[in-house]
Amino acid sequence: MKTTETFPELPLFDLELQPQDLEAVAETLRSGWLTMGPKTAAFEEAFAAHLGAKHAIAVSSCTAALHLAYLAAGVGPGDEVIVPSYTFAATAAAVIYCGATPVFGEIVSREHPMLDPDDVIGRITPRTKAVCVVHFAGYAAAADRLKEICDERGIALIEDVAHAPSATLGGRKLGTWGLAGAFSFFSNKVFSVGEGGLLCTDSDEVAATVRAHRSHTMTSGTWERHSGKTDTYDVTGLGYNYRLDEPRSALLLSRLGRLDSEI
Ligand SMILES: Cc1ncc(COP(=O)(O)O)c(C=O)c1O
Repeated sequence: MKTTETFPELPLFDLELQPQDLEAVAETLRSGWLTMGPKTAAFEEAFAAHLGAKHAIAVSSCTAALHLAYLAAGVGPGDEVIVPSYTFAATAAAVIYCGATPVFGEIVSREHPMLDPDDVIGRITPRTKAVCVVHFAGYAAAADRLKEICDERGIALIEDVAHAPSATLGGRKLGTWGLAGAFSFFSNKVFSVGEGGLLCTDSDEVAATVRAHRSHTMTSGTWERHSGKTDTYDVTGLGYNYRLDEPRSALLLSRLGRLDSEI
């Protein structure tokens, strides 16, 4: 059976760009400043407000956001992170980046392909540092129940929101239930700009760790030096280059106002 015969009118993704989106990108290209800077900061502020989250930190992919979320939750060698058995590889791969072990939890059913909270309870061990719930295909998993389970045991709940920007559970945006939420702006996603990701959190501590680690743990960014705020920086640890660039941030910012109606 061919997929095209089963779903003749269902595209893999549907990207709608308006003239003002193209102008926002062109304006950014003309500005001469192309990497993480004022457009990225403006998008972060707008997306944080959209989610109702304290912090939104743009990164280069959802995989990067998951990696930094696990690191910020203290996941390290010897730890275990429970992830759904039905997800994209990145949810589990980012656990291994931290030197930890992914433990696969069952999904509820084929009709509800989301992590089963009761199954999670049976997989918790003294090594469990975090649980990552995936909101599959735009539908909400039981983040509320999983949050209770995690809170009772002092375990971090991370949300993989790659498929579900702007979706809600109990009136609250997905991604804001756990310690951190990881979003994807990859080509085939709902809110796509080619490549990109974002981590949201209400924790000042997590936000500080993620902001530092997305850019080599440098104490000041290149934009801050370019704009004269400082003329030096230190590197305080082992960080990464997980930055997002300005043209993509400008495109995200331009499209954000239409996100709900496009969904
Ligand atoms: C559930 C899920 N998590 C994470 C990712 C990784 O996203 P990115 O390509 O932005 O790293 C994907 C991408 O397909 C995904 O489907």
